[in-house]
Amino acid sequence: MTQCSIVHLGHPALRTPAAPIEKDRLADPELQALIDAMLEAMLEAGGVGLAAPQLGINEQLFVYVEVDPEGEDQSETETRTLINPALEPLSGEMVYEWEGCLSVPELRGLVPRHPAVRVHALDRHGQPLSFRAEGYQARIVQHEYDHLNGVVFLDRMRDLRSLSFREEWEEYMTTKDDTNDDHAD
Ligand code: NI
Repeated sequence: MTQCSIVHLGHPALRTPAAPIEKDRLADPELQALIDAMLEAMLEAGGVGLAAPQLGINEQLFVYVEVDPEGEDQSETETRTLINPALEPLSGEMVYEWEGCLSVPELRGLVPRHPAVRVHALDRHGQPLSFRAEGYQARIVQHEYDHLNGVVFLDRMRDLRSLSFREEWEEYMTTKDDTNDDHAD
């Protein structure tokens, strides 16, 4: 698969639980090519995460950008690929932040997420991963993980009144300082 076309809300793949990927298949060049195509599609669309169901593929796989808000050097984009992920929420009060989604174009909404999660998954070479994600990275991981369960950010909103189109969101919902928080997953 060399071409990646992102599907939008209404496509059944976005509402279908994804199947686990057998470890042996990670040696399959086609699956590796799919991962490369997903990374490319995500970066090209200006997204910070992309899950396989967003390409109409119901498999437990997503890619995302490792965001380091404290990082000095933003020129290098670090990405991560997770296969068959499982999330364990860590204690702490839910945090509300703005989210968007490449499959729900133009909309932004305030979504509660766990402030930190422990992630268990395989990397693209089948090596087991276990790490703690916090803050914005934890948010991205929870958003993408939801896609593997047929859940989109709208389902997680507790109050739809914050739902905004991007143009209006930029005009009325943000301050000049945080317009660079405009990311879509
Ligand atoms: Ni999304």
